[in-house]
Amino acid sequence: MTRIFSGIRPSGKLHLGNYLGAIKNWIELQDKNPELCVFMIADYHGITTPFEPKKYGEQILDTACEFLAAGLNPKKILLIRQSQIHQHIELAWIFNTITPISWLDRLPTYKEQLEKTKSNNVGLLDYPVLMAADILIYKANLVPVGEDQLPHIDLTNEILKKINSTFGQTFEPVKAHLAPGARIMSLQDPAKKMSKTEDEGIALTDSPDQIREKIKKAVTDSGREIKFDEKNKPAISNLLTIYSLLSNKQISDFEKEYEGKSYVEFKNGLTETVVSFLKPFQKKYNQFKNNIGEVEKVLEDSEEKARNEAQKTLNEVKQKIGVLSR
Ligand code: TYM
Repeated sequence: MTRIFSGIRPSGKLHLGNYLGAIKNWIELQDKNPELCVFMIADYHGITTPFEPKKYGEQILDTACEFLAAGLNPKKILLIRQSQIHQHIELAWIFNTITPISWLDRLPTYKEQLEKTKSNNVGLLDYPVLMAADILIYKANLVPVGEDQLPHIDLTNEILKKINSTFGQTFEPVKAHLAPGARIMSLQDPAKKMSKTEDEGIALTDSPDQIREKIKKAVTDSGREIKFDEKNKPAISNLLTIYSLLSNKQISDFEKEYEGKSYVEFKNGLTETVVSFLKPFQKKYNQFKNNIGEVEKVLEDSEEKARNEAQKTLNEVKQKIGVLSR
């Protein structure tokens, strides 16, 4: 039986990379009748890099509004805040005791964040161990994520193998589920992934004018052809990927449609698609923002169920390691 788990940090507005690499996939998976489907706002992961305490609570609820506006259905899934399910942290502590530091300080995301934020805290190093606990506390076996998270899924499998071999069979292997948009690149530098940095990404809540401006300023490649060629035309290929995924049309359709046309015409077409795709999302987002009590209720109901589910795994692991005798 399929048990699905994934999460996103509430560090700033969600962007098209988060949507196409993760959330679009989550929405498709929730309709496939999995045994369990949990989607999480990773608010404890979010505090491993600089954040503003006074704004953080609102940011967390904003992220919940974005999840619901994108189409996550609380009748089919659990929508939780990581900090509200203390069992994640308890399991992470147990995992810490069997995880060598050398498994963590070689991970690319750790090195990247260290370089970017200069905040060398233990939480940043330990980040993937908490991720493993997030996933395994629900005994999830399918994790829909973007490509950058793959090393963390590998680490989760290393940790569970060590738990199984040290304390007895407890967890089944975990598989990553990658979407066609698993690697959406920055609009300013197609060698870098799209991130929350201004101008590099389009936020789901950007206004039509902001979107127009960002796509206008997006870098293009030399030559004039609108052609998918990741090696020689990485910027246009990235824009074609976004265009195709948002309109559910093939990249080859766009190559034909824009044959002999300019980058400006291509960018205008893409802008219209992004703006009209985000319009219904933004309408629903504002409705949820104006009904924040309803959103909090969805979270609280989900969190109660998640705590019950999580406690079962925690008890099993505590018994296996001997801190609970029965
Ligand atoms: P985060 O918040 O960095 O990203 C959330 C999800 O969005 C995907 N993503 C992208 N996909 C395609 N192109 C991009 N440019 C792009 N940028 C981001 C990420 O791959 C991710 O799927 N550590 C996680 C949150 C987390 C988690 C978990 C995920 C915590 N616990 C357990 C899975 C399972 C993170 O920081 O994601």
